[in-house]
Formats: sequence, structure tokens, C-alpha cells
Amino acid sequence: MDKFVVHQSRLSGQVKISGSKNTALPVMAATLLTDQICVISNVPDLKDIKTMIGILEGLGKKIKFSKNILTIKSKKNKNFIAPYKLVRTMRASFCCLGPLLAKLKKAKVALPGGCIIGPRPVDLHIKGLRNLGANIIIENGYCQAKTKKLKGAHIYLGGAFGSSVLATANVLMAAALAEGESIIEHAACEPEIECLALFLKKMGAKIEGEGTPILKVIGVKKLSGCEFKIIADRIEAGTFIAASLATKSPIIIKGANPSHLTSVIEVAKKIGASIKIGKDSTIFVKPAKRLKPVNITTLPYPGFPTDLQAQFMACLCLAKGISLITEKIYPDRFMHVAELNRMGASIQRNGPYAIIEGKEKLYGAEIMASDLRASAALVIASLAAKGKSQILRVYHIDRGYEKIRGKFGKLGAKIKREKQ
Ligand code: EPZ
Repeated sequence: MDKFVVHQSRLSGQVKISGSKNTALPVMAATLLTDQICVISNVPDLKDIKTMIGILEGLGKKIKFSKNILTIKSKKNKNFIAPYKLVRTMRASFCCLGPLLAKLKKAKVALPGGCIIGPRPVDLHIKGLRNLGANIIIENGYCQAKTKKLKGAHIYLGGAFGSSVLATANVLMAAALAEGESIIEHAACEPEIECLALFLKKMGAKIEGEGTPILKVIGVKKLSGCEFKIIADRIEAGTFIAASLATKSPIIIKGANPSHLTSVIEVAKKIGASIKIGKDSTIFVKPAKRLKPVNITTLPYPGFPTDLQAQFMACLCLAKGISLITEKIYPDRFMHVAELNRMGASIQRNGPYAIIEGKEKLYGAEIMASDLRASAALVIASLAAKGKSQILRVYHIDRGYEKIRGKFGKLGAKIKREKQ
């Protein structure tokens, strides 16, 4: 197991944003809907992508992955079981259920199990697929689904915390091959879902309303292969905006889509950053000398993303005053709080709320990463903190950030990777 050894650093220069992990994963699952070749580019080279490759190969795909391009072919013999040993390492594998069921009329996918960021049920996935006519039983930790024929339906996908990204993905992919028309109401509007819909349409699916809460799908008999480019990772871009703020360093972000970051840029400006969007969508971030406190509430898109809550909390630890964070998507997603407090931050957590009293400085310490986005927040806090920090269990960050140490290194950050 590795750790990062980080020293306080000022950043400067530019960083290029990779393709979006949370788009690539459902798009890869969607290739189960066809036997033809799919060529997908701008795919980030990450552990989670490798896990999805393993799952798809187990389901009868032949995959080549090089230079961020996936070439996905189908082998003769198909399999419809996604095993627990792979699914438990990555929840997103559960979105193979819809396409497998639609294509093979049967699917057996392990239930994802517990997650450190809080309860993550799959009731909406199952409800939506049942509405399409699937017969689903949960047995021995597996979700077993079968159908003679999926039929279009009117499906309401709203849950206790609003829309669900991967439930929308699962149901949308199944509806694409269902007979007749489906209306998916309270669908997720995330750019990741909009991009998945564009991929499905390139395969020949009939979909309207992507990016809005109402999706209309006219099922087709067959979907074909295609070539497709994955969008930029808005969460990675937001992570670098937070790093610029916390280290008080001006940086240039290349290759992101600013229109996917509206709520994030809004918050960064309130904290005191000057943000300019150049031609070709380059984002110029110039932080203020002293950060201002703000209140942040995480919400489904286009609200402020929960996947940037920890990174912006790290910034607010250095703001002049009191900030309040309300976590409305995963009320328990605060594993990073204790670690930031070990660095001299003053954060009190109460249920879904965190009250941050800003400090002049943070101090380097030995800290532990607990999940993907919390580990990014600890890297940001360590770059801003006085002295040296050691971040243990950095395998979490490898799951979702491509070459992050290299990218920060190019910006002048002092981060070394060492055996723990
Ligand atoms: C996606 O997870 C992302 N993962 C998550 O990013 C992200 O945090 C999340 O969306 C919210 O934006 C991928 O895209 C691979 P949800 P997903 O279903 O789809 C509740 C990262 O760091 N819910 O939108 O699994 C759920 O408990 C990861 O990259 C139900 O109640 O999240 C949560 O409170 C972490 N029943 C809320 O909805 C369901 O059936 C939103 O979850 C499904 C979800």
C-alpha cells in the first residue's frame, strides 16, 4: 500500500483535465446493448475503468485499452452474471443490470453492499426495471432479473434524496431496447447522463430530453456499434479549482467544460476567486489573498456536486470566518472531517451539517484517506498546510484521478509517492 508525502506548495501553470470517470463507466456498460464494435476515446486510465473492463470481459466482451481509447468487441459466448468479487470493489458495476437484461432477457448482478460515504440503496434501479416488465428477485446477495420482453412504461424515479444518476442510467439503457415508449420522470440531469444518452443515440436509440428531468424513449429492436468521445471530468476540474483556492495559487485549467461547472464557479467566486473563461473554454483561476466563508448545500445537478464537498471544505478551513456545509445527497459523507481537524482545522459535524471555523493556517500531519473524494481533499489541505503531511491509503485516489501526482507535480506541487 502506498502513501503520499506532501510538502506545502504554491502552484502555477496549467493542467489538462482528463475524460470523465462517471461518464465512461455507464457508457462502457451500454456497450452490452450491442454485439458490434464500439470505439470510445478520452477514457481516463484509472483503476475503476480497469475494474469495469474486467467485468465486461467476464460478460463476453473482448477489450483493448490503450492511449485512453477503448475498443470493445463481442465474443461468441455471452455470460449474464456480474460476480460479487468485482461488483463489491465498484458500485458502478451495478449499472450493467439494465443493459444485460435488455439484451439477454436475463441478468444476475451482485448487490453492491456497504459504502463508506453512507447508505446507497438500489431500490430505484429495481423499481424502474420492474416498471419496464422485469421480474426481479433478490437472493443470496444477487439481483436476479429476467423478462420475456421489456415493455415501455411511465416511470417515476424520484427518491428520498432526489434523482439517482446510476438508476437513471440503468433504466434508460433498458428502455432503449424495450418495446414501445417510455417516459422517465425525475430523471437525473447530470452531464454524465446527458452524455450517456448521446452515446445511446449514436448507437441508434431514440431518446429525447437528455439533460432534463423528463426523458422520452422510443424502444428500438437493435442497437449498433459506434465511435464516441467521453466528456471532460467536471469533478476533476472542480478539484483543481479548490486546490488553487486553498494554496492561493493562480492556475489555468485546460480541456474542461465550464458550462458543467456553473454552481462550482459560483461558489468559488463567493469564496473570493476571480475566474475568467478564455476562448477554447480555458478556465483561468486567480484566488484571493484571504478566502471568504460561504455556505454550501450539495444537490443533484445543476446544484453543487456532493463529489466536490470535501475538496471545498478543505478550502473553507482557511477562510476568514464561519462556513456551513449541508450534505443533502449523502448525509454521512464526512469521513474527511476528523482528518482535517488533525491538521488543525476547526470543524464540527452535526448530522448532515458541518460548521467550519476558518483558521489562518493548517499544519502538516499523518492522515488517512477513506474514500476517493476525501483523499483529494486531504491532498489539497496538505499542499496548503505548513510543513510535511503523509497521506495513507492513497489507493482511494487512484480509483478516480488519472495521474494526479504527475498533474500536481507539473503545477509545482511537492508530492512523493512512497510505500506505506
Ligand atoms: C453517482 O453515484 C456517482 N457515481 C457518485 O460519484 C456521486 O456521488 C453520485 O452519483 C451523486 O452525484 C458514479 O457516477 C459512478 P445516486 P450513484 O444514485 O448514481 C439515493 C464519485 O466520487 N438512492 O445519484 O450511485 C442514494 O443513496 C462517486 O465519483 C436511493 O435512495 O448515486 C443517494 O443518497 C461517489 N435509491 C442519492 O440517491 C437508489 O436506488 C443519490 O445517489 C439509488 C440512489
